[in-house]
Amino acid sequence: MKPLPTLLSFLPLVAASGGGGGGGPSHVATEIFSFPPTNPIFIENLFVLPDARLLLTSFVHFGPDTNSPLHVLNPITSSVSVVTTLPNSTSQTGIAELSGANRYAVTAGIAGNNFEFVNNTVNVYVVSLGWNASSATVVDTIPVPGAISANGLVAVGNVVLSADSREGRILRVDTITRTSSVAFADPLLFGDPANVSGSLGVTGVNGLFLKWHLGHRWVYFTNTARGIYGRFKVDSLGYKVGSLEVLRTVTSADPIGFTNSLDDLVVDGDEDGDGDGDGYIAWQDKSLLKVKRYSNGTTAQTVVLGPGGVASGNAGITLKTPTSVALGLGGGHIYVGTGGAEAGNLTGGQVVKVTI
Ligand SMILES: *[C@@H]1O[C@H](CO)[C@@H](O)[C@H](O)[C@H]1NC(C)=O
Ligand SMILES: *[C@@H]1O[C@H](CO)[C@@H](O)[C@H](O)[C@H]1NC(C)=O
Ligand SMILES: *[C@@H]1O[C@H](CO)[C@@H](O)[C@H](O)[C@H]1NC(C)=O
Ligand SMILES: *[C@@H]1O[C@H](CO)[C@@H](O)[C@H](O)[C@H]1NC(C)=O
Ligand SMILES: *[C@@H]1O[C@H](CO)[C@@H](O)[C@H](O)[C@H]1NC(C)=O
Ligand SMILES: *[C@@H]1O[C@H](CO)[C@@H](O)[C@H](O)[C@H]1NC(C)=O
Repeated sequence: MKPLPTLLSFLPLVAASGGGGGGGPSHVATEIFSFPPTNPIFIENLFVLPDARLLLTSFVHFGPDTNSPLHVLNPITSSVSVVTTLPNSTSQTGIAELSGANRYAVTAGIAGNNFEFVNNTVNVYVVSLGWNASSATVVDTIPVPGAISANGLVAVGNVVLSADSREGRILRVDTITRTSSVAFADPLLFGDPANVSGSLGVTGVNGLFLKWHLGHRWVYFTNTARGIYGRFKVDSLGYKVGSLEVLRTVTSADPIGFTNSLDDLVVDGDEDGDGDGDGYIAWQDKSLLKVKRYSNGTTAQTVVLGPGGVASGNAGITLKTPTSVALGLGGGHIYVGTGGAEAGNLTGGQVVKVTI
C-alpha cells in the first residue's frame, strides 16, 4: 500500500518491523478494541478509511428496529461511534470504497437463517463519509433482488462485486446505473455439493479482496465449504477475465465446520519480498491464517494468531470467531475483526492489530 497521510501519522509507530527477511515470521498482536458484553456487537467486516479510522459492519446488532447502525472506530483512542444507520436492514456484510471522494458501498439486508438474508431484502447502500467526520449520509440504496447472500464486497470503480455464498456466484452492482446482475457462477465458488444441508456446507465464496498485481486486477477469494483460497482476474468494468485459479486448499486436522472455516481475507504487498503477496485469512473459529506464496508458485500456511500461532505479544488474546481482515494504511500491519462469539455466546466483537 502506498503511504497516505493520516490523522494518526504523527503518532510513533509501535513494532513496525516487517516480516522477518528469512528469519521466519515475526508478528506482534495487540487487541485494540472490543465491544463490551453489554453491547456485544458481532463485527462482520472492517474497512480502513483514508483517515485511518475503521468502518465496522455488524451482522447482529440487537436493535429493536430495522435501522442497523454503522460504526466507526478510532484505533488510537479505541472510541467507537455510530456514524449512520441503514434503513430497512438488520444486518450488514461487505464494505468497499467507490470512486470519487468519501463514497463507500455497504451491503445489508434483513437477517434470515444461517447468516444469510431474507430473499429480496438485500441492498447496496452508498454511504458518504468525510475525513474525520462524525456522521455519514446514506446517499443511495440500490436493491439486489433475488439474493439471500451478499457477503464479501470489492469495488472496481463504481461497480461492486459481491460474493453470493449460497449460489456460488458473483453479483455485480453498478452504483451509477443502479443495476444489479449475476456476473458469473462457478463450481469453485459453490459450497460443498456433498453437504448442502450443512450450514457451512452451503457457504461457498465468502471473502473477496481486490489487488493490483503486475498490471492486472485480481480478485482473491475464499470458499468456506471447500477451504479454498483462490483468485480470478477482472477488467476495468469488473468483468471476469479468464478462469478461476486455486492458490491453496487449506489443510486442517478438523473437518470443515465451525472450527475450520475460511472467512474474509487480505493479500499484502509482498512485504518480505520473496514472491507474491501473502494472504491473511480470518479462520474460524479462533485463528488468523497466513498463506505465503513463493515466487515458484508453491504455498505454505502458518497460524499467525490462535492455537499454535507464531505471533508474539498475544498473551491473553483469544480471537473469538474471527470474521474479517483489513490492511492498515502504509503497510506494516493488518486489523482482524471478530464476531466475539465464544462457545455460542456473544461476548463482544474484537479488533486486533497484527504486524506483518
Ligand atoms: C423501506 O422499505 C419500504 C418497503 O419496501 C419502502 O417503502 C421504504 O421507502 C424503505 N425505506 C427507506 C428509507 O428506504
Ligand atoms: C477529528 O474530529 C474530532 C471531533 O469529532 C476533533 O476533536 C478532532 O480534533 C479532529 N481531528 C482532526 C485531526 O481534525
Ligand atoms: C429469491 O427470490 C427470487 C425471485 O425474486 C427467486 O428466483 C430465487 O430462487 C429466490 N432465492 C432463494 C434462495 O429462495
Ligand atoms: C456438513 O456441514 C456441517 C457444518 O455445517 C458439519 O458439521 C458436518 O460434519 C458436514 N458433514 C459432512 C458429511 O461433511
Ligand atoms: C519453492 O520455493 C520455496 C521457498 O524458497 C521452497 O521452500 C520450495 O521447496 C520451492 N518449491 C519448489 C517446488 O521448487
Ligand atoms: C454461555 O451462556 C450461558 C447462558 O447465559 C451460560 O450458562 C454459559 O456458561 C455461557 N458459556 C460461556 C462459555 O461463557
